[in-house]
Amino acid sequence: MSPASTGFQVPTVTVSSSLPKRKVDDAVLIVAVVSGTDEDSRATVVSNPFLDAEGVGEIEVALEALGAKGGSEQVTRVVAPSLPVASVLAVGLGKNRDAWPADAIRRAAGVAARSLNGTETVITTLSDIDVSAAIEGLILGAYRFSDFRSEKTAPKDNGLRSITALTADTKSKTKDAAARATDIAAAVATARDFVNTPPSHLFPAEFAKRAEALGKAAGLEVEVVDDKALAKDGYGGIVGVGKGSSRPPRLVRLSHRGGKGRKPKKVALVGKGITFDTGGISIKPAANMHHMTSDMGGAAAVIATVVLAARQKLPIDVVATVPMAENMPSATAQRPGDVLTQYGGITVEVLNTDAEGRLILADAIVRACEDDPDYLIETSTLTGAQTVALGARTPGVMGSDEFRDRVAERSQEVGENAWPMPLPEELKDDLKSTVADLANVSGSRYAGMLVAGTYLREFVADGVQWAHIDVAAPAYNTGGPWGYTGKGGTGVPTRTMFAVLEDIAVNG
Ligand code: BES
Ligand code: MN
Ligand code: ZN
Repeated sequence: MSPASTGFQVPTVTVSSSLPKRKVDDAVLIVAVVSGTDEDSRATVVSNPFLDAEGVGEIEVALEALGAKGGSEQVTRVVAPSLPVASVLAVGLGKNRDAWPADAIRRAAGVAARSLNGTETVITTLSDIDVSAAIEGLILGAYRFSDFRSEKTAPKDNGLRSITALTADTKSKTKDAAARATDIAAAVATARDFVNTPPSHLFPAEFAKRAEALGKAAGLEVEVVDDKALAKDGYGGIVGVGKGSSRPPRLVRLSHRGGKGRKPKKVALVGKGITFDTGGISIKPAANMHHMTSDMGGAAAVIATVVLAARQKLPIDVVATVPMAENMPSATAQRPGDVLTQYGGITVEVLNTDAEGRLILADAIVRACEDDPDYLIETSTLTGAQTVALGARTPGVMGSDEFRDRVAERSQEVGENAWPMPLPEELKDDLKSTVADLANVSGSRYAGMLVAGTYLREFVADGVQWAHIDVAAPAYNTGGPWGYTGKGGTGVPTRTMFAVLEDIAVNG
């Protein structure tokens, strides 16, 4: 079976400064509510210029009758006959305050969108608080992956087709912000689609083909290096990991040349593209091995980000270098104890074939550094140790101290919440090999996330500011839905990387 890849249909977004004049059948109006004070525990509508006292009164009376308290991310659907919509969806923001962090609005919008199910038309006043966050949250919350649902199982998607974002400020700047938010959400959806596509259907050659099609459509330069060329050119890490699979590896390069002037900033992006990680001969236990469909989450985010940079016409050069391989055990697979030569000449003793990500990434990092970038951001579902250290929702960032902190700050701002981690010098000793320049794992169980970062550091060229973002768990939600994040692929860290690129475009 090879179902047509329809992907997620991004809703259309319009900005408006008033409610519709006539009743719109089936439209749902989303309003923000806050919880009351101790004396008066009723939910109250967050004031906005679009609702008159009658409309607000109808909503608040209905909420009180239903016992809705306006708690954070609580949703309640009510009718308000005087308003030109079929119903009103009140979403709680918790305690009242003067200003909300963008991610509180994004999450509230996401929860609202997830509760819609079948509503085609939404009008939102959350946009009066933060237009970008409201749009991003609604689109991301409406995201569904239904490429593999047969007609018999309805619904195929969330149904949301049209968003009207109400804001008092509809100048062209606001329209640009809305378009930017829509592009960002679409990019995250692209990354999620890649992660959610099962390994039966997304293998290196197919992944490369889809990346190429997306890149060409966005006007990027595209280069696909196939398995023969990889072997000939000395990409020992990608070849070594890929050789256990009947589906050969690839290296994809996507270039956005937006830089103008004398010396435009150049940013290299590198993402781990293991389309499935069995562990290889160092095979993983069966329990939850299917989660390893997410092992190309870094690659997915990097591809989505460079496409987004082109769509948003960022005035910098961005080149994505994406190694793709399937890590399988077989008669042709690499063995624990094998030695391979990474691209660039460093030799590695492969003590554990399940530490495969760093092997394909090292080749890609060396290749990316040949372009002489100012910055390099690499991201990967690299270690189970990330989850032990930081949990399911907090990526770890390592690298050059200053740039690492900058990446973490941008990540906090967009709500992806990456946290800075060190690369202690002494960990390098753990990667000594008795036969080669390096071993791919340490003999100790300590600091697995940092040891992996230490391995990658060996391959970054001097003078390149770099960051490694480990998204092992944050790229793939195996728990229940929350905020604007459903089950499965999350698209993390697409928005972090794009925020860093925008920052570099403005501040160098
Ligand atoms: N893809 C895994 C890391 C991973 C684990 C991602 C759980 C998402 C969820 C990676 O290739 C891996 O197997 N890492 C090993 C490294 C070890 C052998 C040093 C790990 O974390 O166990
Ligand atoms: Mn592995
Ligand atoms: Zn892996």
